[in-house]
Amino acid sequence: MREKGTKVVISASGLRKVFGDLVAVSDFNLEVSRGSIYGLVGPNAAGKTTALRMMTGKLRPTAGQVRVLGFDLATDAKKVRNRIGVMPQSLALYSDLSARENLMFFGALQGFRGEKLERRITELERLMKLEEPMERVVSELSGGTTRRLSLACTLIHSPELLFLDEPTVGIDPVFRDSLWSHFKDLRDSGVTILLTSHYLAEMENCEKIGMMREGKIILEGEPAALRSKFDGITLEEVFIRVAQGTGSAR
Ligand SMILES: Nc1ncnc2c1ncn2[C@@H]1O[C@H](COP(=O)(O)OP(=O)(O)O)[C@@H](O)[C@H]1O
Ligand SMILES: [Mg+2]
Repeated sequence: MREKGTKVVISASGLRKVFGDLVAVSDFNLEVSRGSIYGLVGPNAAGKTTALRMMTGKLRPTAGQVRVLGFDLATDAKKVRNRIGVMPQSLALYSDLSARENLMFFGALQGFRGEKLERRITELERLMKLEEPMERVVSELSGGTTRRLSLACTLIHSPELLFLDEPTVGIDPVFRDSLWSHFKDLRDSGVTILLTSHYLAEMENCEKIGMMREGKIILEGEPAALRSKFDGITLEEVFIRVAQGTGSAR
């Protein structure tokens, strides 16, 4: 199902995850093209994190298949590990180490050291506005700063594919804007991003969004197309109508 000229870098088909008698994700199908931003949006407990964890090889699906960068995660997860960057909802940083030491640690994990690592850290320090907290221990940092540091740690090896779980939560609106312009710069340089959020407004920046509810994608498309299908109302209103089953597209 490839469009001409695009390449699918994430493909999930028939994904399902059951915890005990709770169906967290079901009938989940998704394709993400290289160099695009795909946003999964939905309320709490919709299954966003569970779906993302299955697509990064962190969680084994009850059923279904995931291919990432052409590899089947069930058998070849190792082959994609250093080509992807994953930021879980709460990335385990070392709270008694400084911001810089955390970056050094995550860099070393990815096999970077010496001058190359120093240069990359300096770059990310500027990009993520981490100059001030750089030498402070993580336990002293605010939520927003910790989020920026988590993102910097995720980007340390310049991955070509990013999975970001709620990257803008707890971040002030001004920095949120600059984060989005950074995401768009990354996309323009060919990086693919799959992210989750429960803020619909920021999803206007995505090439494609999937609206999730009760473990399923209930509506998918380009933000503008979704809005025009529903008479140009906001994405928020589209979601509410579809979620309530009163969605009547033209
Ligand atoms: N490890 C787990 N064990 C049991 N239930 C889980 C587990 N992880 C998630 N869930 C449940 O699965 C549902 C979907 O959760 P989640 O994927 O975290 O949603 P979201 O990220 O959209 O808030 C929720 O009802 C949640 O409580
Ligand atoms: Mg979540």
